[in-house]
Amino acid sequence: MESIRIRGGKRLEGTIKISGAKNAALPILCATLLSDGESLLRNVPALRDIETTSALLRFLGREVNSAPPVVTVKGFGTDRPIAPYELVKQMRASVMVLGPLLARNGRAQVSLPGGCQIGSRPVDQHLKGLEKLGATISLERGYIVAKSSRLRGAEIVFDMPTVTGTENLMMAAALAKGKTRLVNAAKEPEVEELGRVLNKMGAIVTGAGTDVMEIEGRDELAPFDHAIIADRIEAGTYMVAAAATGGNVLLENAPLEDMASTIEVLKRMGVEITREGTAARIQRNGPLKPIRIETMPHPGFPTDMQAQIMVLSCLAEGESTIHETIFENRFMHVPELARMGADIETDGSSAVIRGPRQLEGAQVMATDLRASASLVIAGLVARDETEVLRVYHLDRGYEHMEEKLSGAGADAVRVATTAY
Ligand code: EPU
Repeated sequence: MESIRIRGGKRLEGTIKISGAKNAALPILCATLLSDGESLLRNVPALRDIETTSALLRFLGREVNSAPPVVTVKGFGTDRPIAPYELVKQMRASVMVLGPLLARNGRAQVSLPGGCQIGSRPVDQHLKGLEKLGATISLERGYIVAKSSRLRGAEIVFDMPTVTGTENLMMAAALAKGKTRLVNAAKEPEVEELGRVLNKMGAIVTGAGTDVMEIEGRDELAPFDHAIIADRIEAGTYMVAAAATGGNVLLENAPLEDMASTIEVLKRMGVEITREGTAARIQRNGPLKPIRIETMPHPGFPTDMQAQIMVLSCLAEGESTIHETIFENRFMHVPELARMGADIETDGSSAVIRGPRQLEGAQVMATDLRASASLVIAGLVARDETEVLRVYHLDRGYEHMEEKLSGAGADAVRVATTAY
């Protein structure tokens, strides 16, 4: 088991390069299943979730050469359309192979993802949408079994915007006969990015990134060559880290155009963010101001930035409130932050944070990806030493986080530990 050990109190100063977006790379890897031949993905981050997806694609029959930032996936027309529990339980996003496998093979058997740390996260919208396209779906021994002859385009109205649900249906619709209309679709930049890839493959996707999208399917799709967009959540996380330490950091490749709500919140808190060519400079000199935020689907404030902003609000002078509207159990970092001296009171999906507090180093437990990132940031500003245990959560979504931080002056190292 590994942990990250941080000696707090160092101001971040230097340059941090933002990697490709995990949540864009995962659906695009699944999209390779829509064609044979070799697809080439560039700017892929080196993450555990990418390795899990590569293992799943190999299990399905693909030849995957995963050497981030480049990954190639080759298909031979012989996919085995089964995604086993062993792989799906490691990563819920695996459910995104369902749409492509079904569309291409007329049959797919994908383990139903189980519970999750941050909420129950059902996939009913994915399944209802596939049924609208003509699939018959049953649940057998923990597996979703989907069957169909050729899928047919249809209008699908989502009950709520779902990111991976929209992506699953976009991929299925790209091989369906005729036109599909997705209404109340997710508008995240990663959804728009998948639209660009499906267009490269030969489907005609319009409106990706808005709440109504149309996809004209094709009988066959072609492999593609695509460089993945930069990770807005990774960039936001380092913005918070820089701000927390009162630092001055240049973020290379930060996708500022996709980060309006995060930037607005940080500016309201007293953080300076200025564009320098394709980079962004983050500085904080004065005190931090408290904030009121509510997480929302894009372009609202992202749930994936909630834990990090909570740490920043612990340092602000006054009372902040955070309301989590996307996932019902996404405050797992609160008891850990409390162990470091934070004053946070939660009531259901709302949290009141009183600051400023001087955080104290402690051994803390990472519980999910973004919660882990918030604990690392807390460690950067805490007195003495913090040890964040179970960093495998962090490695799912942050490429070499301790190296990127120590490159900008943090005292953060990865250590082997017997504690877990
Ligand atoms: N929902 C349903 N039924 C469905 C699908 C979703 O009720 O069939 C609900 C969820 O329970 C949740 C809401 O709809 O309350 C939105 O969930 P969504 O489906 O959009 O989440 P997701 O697609 O499972 C993606 C990201 C998450 C990110 C969320 C929200 C990927 C691979 N994952 O998850 O990323 O938090 O969108 O933006 O894209 C992370 O990177 O740390 C992460 C958790």
